[in-house]
Amino acid sequence: MGPPSTEPPLLPMFDIIDPANRNDVVLVGKRLWDDHALGYVRDCNWLQHFENAADPYHLVVLHEMISGDQFKSVLTLGNWPAIWFDRTKLGMKYNLVRKLPNGLILERHSECIVPNIVLVANVHQRGQQPIWREKATEVTWCVPVDNETVCGLSVIAWPKGADGKPDPKWKPGTDTISDIRPGQLRDRPFEDKQRKPDDMEAQEGQRRIARHALENLGTSDMGIALLRQTLRKAMLDVQEGREPQNLIRDPEQNRALETSCWNTVMTPEQFEQVKQTLPAEVVRRQAAPELQTT
Ligand SMILES: [Fe+2]
Repeated sequence: MGPPSTEPPLLPMFDIIDPANRNDVVLVGKRLWDDHALGYVRDCNWLQHFENAADPYHLVVLHEMISGDQFKSVLTLGNWPAIWFDRTKLGMKYNLVRKLPNGLILERHSECIVPNIVLVANVHQRGQQPIWREKATEVTWCVPVDNETVCGLSVIAWPKGADGKPDPKWKPGTDTISDIRPGQLRDRPFEDKQRKPDDMEAQEGQRRIARHALENLGTSDMGIALLRQTLRKAMLDVQEGREPQNLIRDPEQNRALETSCWNTVMTPEQFEQVKQTLPAEVVRRQAAPELQTT
């Protein structure tokens, strides 16, 4: 929030929620999604929740290999994906490319925006037909309640119905209130939580405040490391008297800030056209899909 003497910064107007950029939506504020999923008040430090969106490996390891398919969508449908990470204008993102069982190819990104915002693309997407850049539909803040508790607050770009009000038939991309995964329930038997852990167990199971000194980060944790580097830079900026990244005070600068979070589902022909923009390793793995079997 900055020193008390300074004015609070503006609510950042990301491209997916900027009313000047989107006249097809109504902005709806929500604690996502009541007592489930991203809106859950979790009994752990906020960073453990924030890091979720920088870790696509857990989609396969936690939500598929350990606990059985917990999404039944492009997140868990298919083979082992190619994964890599990039910085973005606002923070960092993961990149995930995988061949789907129907032969189409998924390109997916989630973005972590400094200091505590996550963008997650539609988790219900099943990849049945090609779709180009299906962007995230909500902006979610991982809000620390205290050092050992976090909750999620979201601004949702909700499509307008015929009456100009939020369309009741539409379902947000990360909605889990109308499609609750069993693992999102807090009151599960202990054995069930142990045998089929979900995000809650993965995040809270690190202790109330995870001890980073006990970790042995590997190559699959490069996203976590990149996110922590990005946060450390912002903290250093504050410590040394500079404004941290993404702090906006000028309304002229606060317009349709470019986000980098979406699902794209491509045909193999479309993939041929975009593959020169991807790292060589990704292209090699797509050419040899037998290497991707989980
Ligand atoms: Fe998860």
